[in-house]
Amino acid sequence: MSSPAAGNNLPMIDVYLPMMKSAAIISAGQLGLFEALADGPLSADELAGRLAVSVRGVATLADFLVSIAYLERNGAAYTNSASTQRWFTSRGAVDYTSGLLWTAEAWPMMGDLGSALRRGGPQTTLWEAMQSRPQLGQTFAAYMAAFARDLGPDLLRLVPLRPDQQRLLDLGGSHGLHSIRFCEHYPQLRAQIVDFPSALADTPARLAAHGLSERIALTPASVLDHQWAPGQDVVFYLSVAHNQTADDNRRVIRRIRDSLNPGGLLVIHEYLDDQPPSPYLAAFKLTLLYETGTSIHREADYRAWLAEAGFNEVKRIDLDPLEKGALLLASV
Ligand SMILES: C[S@@+](CC[C@H](N)C(=O)[O-])C[C@H]1O[C@@H](n2cnc3c(N)ncnc32)[C@H](O)[C@@H]1O
Repeated sequence: MSSPAAGNNLPMIDVYLPMMKSAAIISAGQLGLFEALADGPLSADELAGRLAVSVRGVATLADFLVSIAYLERNGAAYTNSASTQRWFTSRGAVDYTSGLLWTAEAWPMMGDLGSALRRGGPQTTLWEAMQSRPQLGQTFAAYMAAFARDLGPDLLRLVPLRPDQQRLLDLGGSHGLHSIRFCEHYPQLRAQIVDFPSALADTPARLAAHGLSERIALTPASVLDHQWAPGQDVVFYLSVAHNQTADDNRRVIRRIRDSLNPGGLLVIHEYLDDQPPSPYLAAFKLTLLYETGTSIHREADYRAWLAEAGFNEVKRIDLDPLEKGALLLASV
């Protein structure tokens, strides 16, 4: 990463431009600007009419988005760039607009990062905040759903199941998309999702839409104290371990091992604390410090917890791009 403050550039450019870039992209997502352009070019007048915003406002926003290559301009007409169309509209394979709406929620939190750094952790964890503001949980779950649509094909390809594997336990499964994808692919499979109530708010409707309400059960509970049934064939622990302390992960992994049938499989998706951390991982650690007070863990930690719990074989698979994280496949 470049460091303008270290060179001849104005040092504040390094702070100001990323802030304005984030603010503009988030605003475009909130206003529905990228989606409005998904079917073709529109002028500022037309955009203003569609989005019910001022012409001056939308033109100023659109011109900035052209300057950072999120939009293109031809005369008076604006269009989405190819990557904007791909990642931030319903016409692309994955629409990350929900990630923009979540980032709008995270924005004031990061403005307060200094106070968490002084304390060394959050005043209120994200999960506590979601209890008093369930909408926050739904916005987060919608963002996680976008990521799951992105990760899903990798997971299906890299985690083949055998016909005798019939019971899937999806810990922290939230939106349900991973369980849905696997149940649709493997007709023998039944699943149970365990997550906090606010993370499951939209899941029943999604299961019903896929005709899977009978095959996928929802359990609103914490994975730290819910006693799930033995006889599991596959357990998903996907992007959940970075929300737990090392001791809690050690205990959960032991309980997962105890509930797995012979030949069973634990699938962990995580961001591993490799050294030195990439800027993305280092940023994620700061986010976790503010939001949950937890952190990412080292591959060696997972291997120790898994060995201690009695898993025989552990395989690491780095995903592409690396910002997608890694899988640890542990078998009994
Ligand atoms: C980063 S999201 C990942 C969601 C999903 N597993 C996926 O991969 O898309 C983390 C999920 O873990 C859930 N979670 C965190 N701590 C939990 C706990 N103690 N018990 C149950 N769920 C928990 C959160 O509510 C959230 O849905």
